[in-house]
Amino acid sequence: MDTVVLVIGANGQLGSVLTAALQKKYGIDNVIASDLRSGDNFKGIFEIIDATDRDRIHEVVITYKVTQIYHLAAILSAKGEETPLATWDINMKTLFNVLEVSRINNINRVFFPSSIAVFGEGAPLEQTPNDAYLDPATVYGISKAAGENWAQYYFLRYGLDVRSIRYPGVIGYQSLPGGGTTDYAVDIYHKAVLGEKFDCFLNNDTTLPMIFMEDAIRATIALMEAPKKDITIRTSYNIAGVSFSPAEVVSEIRKLYPDFSVAYHPDFRQEIASRWPKSIDDSSAVHDWGWQPEFDLESITTIMIQKLKEKYKIGAKNRKVLMF
Ligand code: SER
Repeated sequence: MDTVVLVIGANGQLGSVLTAALQKKYGIDNVIASDLRSGDNFKGIFEIIDATDRDRIHEVVITYKVTQIYHLAAILSAKGEETPLATWDINMKTLFNVLEVSRINNINRVFFPSSIAVFGEGAPLEQTPNDAYLDPATVYGISKAAGENWAQYYFLRYGLDVRSIRYPGVIGYQSLPGGGTTDYAVDIYHKAVLGEKFDCFLNNDTTLPMIFMEDAIRATIALMEAPKKDITIRTSYNIAGVSFSPAEVVSEIRKLYPDFSVAYHPDFRQEIASRWPKSIDDSSAVHDWGWQPEFDLESITTIMIQKLKEKYKIGAKNRKVLMF
C-alpha cells in the first residue's frame, strides 16, 4: 500500500519545508498539504483544513486514503502567552481531533511535534535528560507536555503509532517562524544580510538549544521511518542540534559582517527562555534511531547568510526583493 501523508500546518516554518521533503520522498501526489489558508505558490495537492474541525480532517483522510498524519499546527510559546486559554483550547483540540481521526481510520503513523518548552524549573538546565521532571511555565509548554502524555495514551490504549520529537529552536532560510521565543535566531540573519541593526529580545548570554532546518527535517523523517520495535519512548524524544547565545551568533555573523550592530532589549520572552534548557541530552534518540546532528553554528551561519543573500537578491540592482 502506498504511503499517503497528510501535513496539517503546511504553511508554517517547519511544515512548509517538511512538506517539500515528504513530496520528494513519497511522490508529489502522495502528500496532502493543508492549512487554515491556501499557501502561496504551493506545488502539489493542497486542502484547506481548520484542525479544530474534526469532520474536516476526517473528510480529507477518507478522500485521499491517508495513511500517515503530521500534525504541525500549534500556537507557539510567546504568542500563546497573549491568550492562554484560547491557546490551550486550540493546541489541545487540534491534537485530540488528529488522534481521534487517526484511531477511527486506522492511520499507520502519526507525528506530533513537542518542544524544549516542556521543561521548566524542575529540570536541570545542562544536558537536560529525556525523563526530566516537566513543569513548564508557558501555556504552550503545558499543552505540549500534556500532548506528549496523550500521544503515549493513544499508543498504550489503542495501539496508535504516534511518534514525537521535542524540537529545539529551528533555524532555516526557507521560511519564517512566528510567535516563538527562539525566533530571534532566524530574524538576526535577515537583519545582518539586509544591513540593518538588530534589536534582540533576549539577553546576550541566554544560551538555548537550536537546530538547523535540514537537521530537524532529517530527524523527523528518521524517527517516522524507524522500525516500530526500536521506538522505546512514546511521549517524546529529546534531540540536540547546537546550543548558543545571541552573543555567540553575533560574533559568528561579525566574521562576515564586521559592522553588524545589535542592541539588547530583553522583554517577557527572556523570562520564558531563562526557564528552558541550555543543552539537551539526546542519548535515547541516538540509541533508538541513530540521531546525529550535522550542522554547528559556523556552518549554519555560512549557509543562512549565503541563502538569504540569494533570496533577497543582494548584489543585484534591485536588492531586498524577498523570494520566499
Ligand atoms: N521554537 C519554539 C518557541 O520558541 C519552541 O518550540 O516557541
